[in-house]
Amino acid sequence: MIVIALDGPAASGKGTLSKRLARHFSFAHLDTGKLYRAVGLAVVRTGGDPEDEAAALDAAQALDPTTLGDPALAGDDAAAAASKVAAMPAVRAALTAFQRTFAEVPPEGAPGAVLDGRDIGTVICPDATAKLFVTADVEERAKRRHRELLDRGEASIYAAVLADLTDRDQRDSSRATAPLVPAEDAMVLDTTELDAEQAFLEALRLVEPAVQEALSALDESEDEMF
Ligand code: C5P
Repeated sequence: MIVIALDGPAASGKGTLSKRLARHFSFAHLDTGKLYRAVGLAVVRTGGDPEDEAAALDAAQALDPTTLGDPALAGDDAAAAASKVAAMPAVRAALTAFQRTFAEVPPEGAPGAVLDGRDIGTVICPDATAKLFVTADVEERAKRRHRELLDRGEASIYAAVLADLTDRDQRDSSRATAPLVPAEDAMVLDTTELDAEQAFLEALRLVEPAVQEALSALDESEDEMF
């Protein structure tokens, strides 16, 4: 299996980066945040409280991956609910198999996969081919997120965005199960001073050697089979 694990805090740019890396290598891409967002949103939509563990676990077990394209998952309500259900070990466990299967057998016969999230390099794919931890100062992340919301025509107040990101960082980093920390063997990419293009080129420079080596090994083992 060839996997690029891309972890980092909210609005660090890891979503854009992982999509571009996936496209570059023709790999499949899984935004694992969407799984937690879908669980959180499912609880809220049925009138439940995302802090209610039984409701969250039911939603995680009933999760239908074909619904991950729902645009509502991008909203801040889904994000806030996600970071609550994501703190529950049973919810995380219920979502593990889907993520590992995606990494091991990427859809549509892709030769590899890029998974982005918080615990890909530490918990889901500890043997990933390459691990990147993407980060940026919280003020810079808040600025980017605020601009993105305004560009989408949504109302946004910078101070509220900053408070929301600080809250989520705190919840994600301090939880007992799978907290947001770089894997020991992760390469850290700080994008505070980089634009999207520079961040992509730097990410590529960091992961390319390991990925190319794994792809060559895959080619050789396929040649031996024929
Ligand atoms: O990445 P995104 O902002 O979509 O993630 C939403 C929330 O889901 C995060 O704040 C985090 O609490 C949770 N999450 C997680 N583990 C992942 C991906 C997301 O705990 N692998």
